[in-house]
Amino acid sequence: MSLHSFQQGPSQGIEANSIRSIGEATFIMLPTPEEVAVVAAMKLGQFIKDDPAGVLGLATGGTMVEPYRVLVELISSQSLKVDELTTFNLDEYYPISVENEASYRSYMNTHLFIPARFPLTPANGAQWGKTYVPYCPSEGDIEDFCDEYERAIIAAGGVGLQLLGIGENGHIGFNEPGSSADSITRIVPLDPSTRAANARFFSTPEEVPTHAITMGLSTIMASEEVLLVATGHKKIDAIKHAFFSPPTPEIPASILQHHSKVTVIIDEEIGKALPFK
Ligand code: GLP
Repeated sequence: MSLHSFQQGPSQGIEANSIRSIGEATFIMLPTPEEVAVVAAMKLGQFIKDDPAGVLGLATGGTMVEPYRVLVELISSQSLKVDELTTFNLDEYYPISVENEASYRSYMNTHLFIPARFPLTPANGAQWGKTYVPYCPSEGDIEDFCDEYERAIIAAGGVGLQLLGIGENGHIGFNEPGSSADSITRIVPLDPSTRAANARFFSTPEEVPTHAITMGLSTIMASEEVLLVATGHKKIDAIKHAFFSPPTPEIPASILQHHSKVTVIIDEEIGKALPFK
């Protein structure tokens, strides 16, 4: 798999037996996390190429570091235009300062926006240029902020392609187990297991914020298309429960079984453990 096949379309170079359908979802299984990153980046790059003024939903986490690195390369080598693109990130810790390197604004600036030269000014809270990350400085304003974030997504025309990672407990964004199907952008407490899983991004476990602002499950389901990326054995159970058992609020990602256009890109470590027929 190489970036050279980008010109022929993102599914070039993927062997037919790596592609499976489970319900409405299409699974692409690739040998290594590096290849997962290349195919994910090509899909994002294709979206930008086809709709340079489109609306892209973005995700963070360790899984996305490599796809973003490849996407930066693709944007530069293919001269893809990002000036007119609008992006909405799924989530952000609360409270957190944007200067904190573990904040998702900082993550996005570092891994994608700055190296790919997204216009980022004037910087204003959640919105920097046409990039949005849900950040609200004061507690009293959170509800209004969340409503405003939802309105901004709708005003931009809705998300065309939403990138998603998945938590070990099946969360998407920060929609923890038990999240309601009709949830929209809101403040949520973080599951202790999520705080523990994300402690690696902070100097001490106590520094992991107790809350987050996240798009809701209904916000995610409203996107036209979803691209979920997962690698490594720690995500096996989450993917298995999300797509190979009946949907349940206990596994928030299982709601994606009701979405009509979902692509799941996984590595073999996960793929080999899945009960494909
Ligand atoms: C984090 C984020 C999610 C992300 C998931 C997986 O907590 N809120 O949006 O998809 O957990 O993260 P990682 O890729 O680091 O495993």
